[in-house]
Amino acid sequence: MRAATDRRTIAGMDRADVVARNRQYWEALAPRRPGESVEFFSSGGSALNEHELVAVGDVRGRRVLQLACSVGDEALTFAQRGADVVAVDLAPTHLATGRAKAEALGLTVDFREQDMMALEPDLAGFDLIFISWGGICWVPDLGQWAADLAERLTPRGVLVISEHHPLWEVLTVTGEETLTVSGDYFTAARDGYADPAKAPQITRELDAQVQSRSYVWNLGALASALLSAGLTIRSLQEFPEADMYAGLGDQAAHIPATYLLTATR
Ligand SMILES: C[S@@+](CC[C@H](N)C(=O)[O-])C[C@H]1O[C@@H](n2cnc3c(N)ncnc32)[C@H](O)[C@@H]1O
Repeated sequence: MRAATDRRTIAGMDRADVVARNRQYWEALAPRRPGESVEFFSSGGSALNEHELVAVGDVRGRRVLQLACSVGDEALTFAQRGADVVAVDLAPTHLATGRAKAEALGLTVDFREQDMMALEPDLAGFDLIFISWGGICWVPDLGQWAADLAERLTPRGVLVISEHHPLWEVLTVTGEETLTVSGDYFTAARDGYADPAKAPQITRELDAQVQSRSYVWNLGALASALLSAGLTIRSLQEFPEADMYAGLGDQAAHIPATYLLTATR
């Protein structure tokens, strides 16, 4: 069921239009986005990396909500580890891929077509809320998002965010040991990507240009939104990732590419 989306205006664009545009964008990408194979999961593969597995802890018997789940790979890993999982996304074709993989693996995941800014009221009482890898950049209003999620956690519930670093979002490699600033760290909304390397890989294979509206949420904005929502930030780790600064050389080890944050109610 598709949840209602409110019509407030965000950076000159009606929120409902942002959601509609982004759904169209992700649906266009869907046929080329299978995610991990069924065999990957059946042979013991995990869609969460080692740092994420530590951050989420033992999920057996826990109620987990994954936001912007795409084709459901991380949701499948949670289910394989014994969690009771709800996974939401805007794009119905991505969700259909996730459902097919869950069925093939004999796993139960409640995949729902929902705007993560307008979740159904029954999506509450979660021990863990998880979002990752190009999820938070689709949130148009971080303050409202954080306040809503805080209400949907159990009293000891944890929010885990594992994401591209906002500094990486605004830097472009132009040669060995050379970076330029191609985006704005302080202004969230952006239409498309100034640096194509920041866009999903498959957009480079699309015949037609599809528009999207996404947001670079800097760490100050994120911390402020979480704290204003009454959440306590428990950890914030930043990691280098040489592949994400391809061509930069050894200097890639000295700047952040990703971050992992945990917060509790
Ligand atoms: C890069 S993918 C997320 C990646 C995912 N963690 C993974 O590793 O596959 C971004 C997803 O966000 C979804 N999305 C964008 N805006 C959304 C919204 N307002 N509510 C829910 N999902 C949204 C898109 O449909 C897309 O599947």
